[in-house]
Amino acid sequence: MNIVLLGAPGAGKGTQAEKIVEKYALCHISTGDILRQAVKDQTPLGVKAKGYMDSGNLVPDELIIDLMKERMQQPDTEKGVMLDGFPRTTAQAVALDGMLADLERPLDAALLVDVPFDVIIGRLTSRRQCRACGHIGTAADAVCPSCGGEMYQRDDDNEATVRNRLEVYSNQTSPLIDYYTGQDKLVTVDGNRAPDVVFADVVEKLGIA
Ligand code: AP5
Ligand code: MG
Repeated sequence: MNIVLLGAPGAGKGTQAEKIVEKYALCHISTGDILRQAVKDQTPLGVKAKGYMDSGNLVPDELIIDLMKERMQQPDTEKGVMLDGFPRTTAQAVALDGMLADLERPLDAALLVDVPFDVIIGRLTSRRQCRACGHIGTAADAVCPSCGGEMYQRDDDNEATVRNRLEVYSNQTSPLIDYYTGQDKLVTVDGNRAPDVVFADVVEKLGIA
């Protein structure tokens, strides 16, 4: 099964991806996580991406498409992928269609986690993530509830940057809702409910129980 996760920043893509890949043994590919690691390691990609990410803008398509072409060739993708944060523009979606066609793999669904913007600001300014295992939590988690590791706040989770990320989403990413509706691949879940309730709906709607 190959799935694209769509949704605004803070909609809960990473939270749902964590649950879906655990249950269905898919390969979780988050372009945001790959880019944050590249920034931390100061790789050439990370050096180029940092300024865009800090301001909440998208990293240029050609960098992301090259990165994903290489990532999709790796053997762990053969079991099926959960793409989290990619594609983010129509150009990326067209490129993904080409990659999947070359690999002779179908896209099963584009899963939209739908949450109103006013809920998102509060979620993102209180988000914390584990440095060790990547678990996504909140400011209420003193240490990682999953592995006991240190929880940190992402550089782009301040209110001004979050507002820009939401605007970028509206302008550049939300057209993908129509793109995948046109392919009859769009599946929408109401993400403004408790994470486990959202997940139960995801399982039911994808028909993967
Ligand atoms: P990326 O890392 O992809 O960030 P994003 O899309 O802004 O999404 P987030 O990770 O912030 O939110 P999420 O939906 O995963 O929510 P989460 O589950 O964490 O991208 C970062 C940057 O990298 C971009 O701005 C861009 O610069 C660059 N980039 C990445 N991919 C790119 C691409 N393809 N092209 C170009 N540039 C790219 O949840 C958020 C919080 O809410 C958490 O605290 C969580 O505990 C809580 N929460 C989750 N679900 C619920 C719920 N149901 N109820 C209550 N709280 C909840
Ligand atoms: Mg995420």
